[in-house]
Amino acid sequence: MDLKEKIRVIMDFPKKGISFKDITTLLKDGEAFKIAIKSLADLVRDKDFDLVAGPEARGFIIGAPLAYELGKGFVPARKKGKLPGETIKAEYKLEYGTDVLEMHKDAIKSGQKVLVVDDLLATGGTIFSTIELVERLGGIVTAVAFLIELTDLKGREYLSKYEVISLIKY
Ligand code: PRP
Repeated sequence: MDLKEKIRVIMDFPKKGISFKDITTLLKDGEAFKIAIKSLADLVRDKDFDLVAGPEARGFIIGAPLAYELGKGFVPARKKGKLPGETIKAEYKLEYGTDVLEMHKDAIKSGQKVLVVDDLLATGGTIFSTIELVERLGGIVTAVAFLIELTDLKGREYLSKYEVISLIKY
């Protein structure tokens, strides 16, 4: 199956000049969703990690089923004020202003190996702050995996310290 055919591209969203990769059309297709998760799982299965971590919101949609498929636990990095326990915070840049991701302090034990996952790699800012949270808790990032990589934005270079894995490239 050509998964790219299942992803809807919407021009000029959220603003002029951006061609938005809309994964909702892939997600609602049961067969395509299953193939996407299984294919991404096949790319990371041989990596050494104890946990999968991913950022809200679309990172959960890909990260949680991927963790389930691999028999690993899932650690969410949530937007500000959502996690009930003690947290650490990392700020990241948006196009206008900044936002904050948080992770529970006890989510990762020092020395645990972590696969960090999101639906899409653009500039790499979002995943970098998720990585920062994992590392501040003493986690070791073994690899970083994405369903989609926008290669022109050079997120892979921004993440050059890490092994970057992606299933679909634009
Ligand atoms: C999107 C996407 C990634 C991020 C990629 O999330 O799901 O998390 O942007 O961009 P970057 O590599 O330049 O950081 P968005 O901020 O739209 O939030 P959402 O997942 O809650 O929709």
